[in-house]
Amino acid sequence: MMQSRPVDMRHETGLFISLEGIDGSGKSTQAQLLAEALRGLGHRVLLTREPGGSPGAEEIRRLVLEGEAERWSPETEILLFTAARRDHLEKTIRPALARGDVVITDRFADSTRMYQGIRRGTGADLRAMVDDLHTRMIGVEPDLTLLIDIDAETGHSRAVSRAASCAGAEQRFEDMGTALQARMRAGFLALARQEPRFAVIDGARSPAEVAADVLATTLTKLA
Ligand code: ADP
Ligand code: TYD
Repeated sequence: MMQSRPVDMRHETGLFISLEGIDGSGKSTQAQLLAEALRGLGHRVLLTREPGGSPGAEEIRRLVLEGEAERWSPETEILLFTAARRDHLEKTIRPALARGDVVITDRFADSTRMYQGIRRGTGADLRAMVDDLHTRMIGVEPDLTLLIDIDAETGHSRAVSRAASCAGAEQRFEDMGTALQARMRAGFLALARQEPRFAVIDGARSPAEVAADVLATTLTKLA
C-alpha cells in the first residue's frame, strides 16, 4: 500500500504574511494599509484573502459562506476550507512567493484551527482533524502572522455596523455571538503564545495607530 506522506509546500523566496483575528478585528483594513505601505516602499505585494484568493477557491467560498448554517457537517466544512486553501496555495500564493513577492493574506490556516477546530462541539476531535489535514495537504505556515487582537464586544459591534452597511449573502458565519468570539479570541492568543511566527497587535486603537505597529513589525521581519 502506498504510504501517504505530508506534502512539502515550503517556499524559498518572498515573505508570507497572514493576518488573523476574530470578525471585526480590523484584518481587512490592516491588510489593505500594509499592502499600500509596502508598495510605497518599493516592495512587490500580492494582497489576497481566505476563503478565496484563486478562482476555484472563490467558488468554494460561496459554498462555505452562503446558505443555511447547517448546510455542511463540521467534517465536510473542514474539507471545504482545506480544499479552498490548497487551491489558493497552488494557484496564487506559491507562484507569488516564487517570484519573490511579499504575500499578505487576510486569514489562513489559523482561522480553520479556531473556527472549525473549536467552534462546533460534536465530541469529535475536530482540532486534531484540522491539524492532520493541514500537515497532509497544506504543509506551510506563514513567516509572520499578525494577530489583530480585540475584545469580543468591540469586534462584534464593528462587524455588525459593517454588515448593516453592506448586507450580503455571506451569512453562514454571521451572528456567532460574543461568547463564541471571546473563546475564539482566547484560542488565537493561546496559539500566539505557542508559535514564534505570531506578533500580537493591539487592535483597539485608531486604524492609523494599528497600521504603524503592523508596518514596523513587518519591516523588522523583512530586515
Ligand atoms: P475584519 O476584516 O477583521 O472583519 P474590517 O477591517 O473589515 O475587519 O473592519 C470591520 C469594521 O470596523 C469596518 O467597518 C471597518 O471600517 C471598521 N474598523 C476597522 N479598523 C478599525 C479601527 N481600528 N477602529 C475603528 N473601526 C475600525
Ligand atoms: P472573512 O471574509 O474574513 O470575514 P470577516 O471580515 O468577518 O472576518 O471570513 C468569513 C468567515 O469565514 C469568517 O466568519 C471566518 C470564517 N472562516 C472559517 O470559519 N474558517 C476558515 O478557515 C476561514 C479562512 C474563514
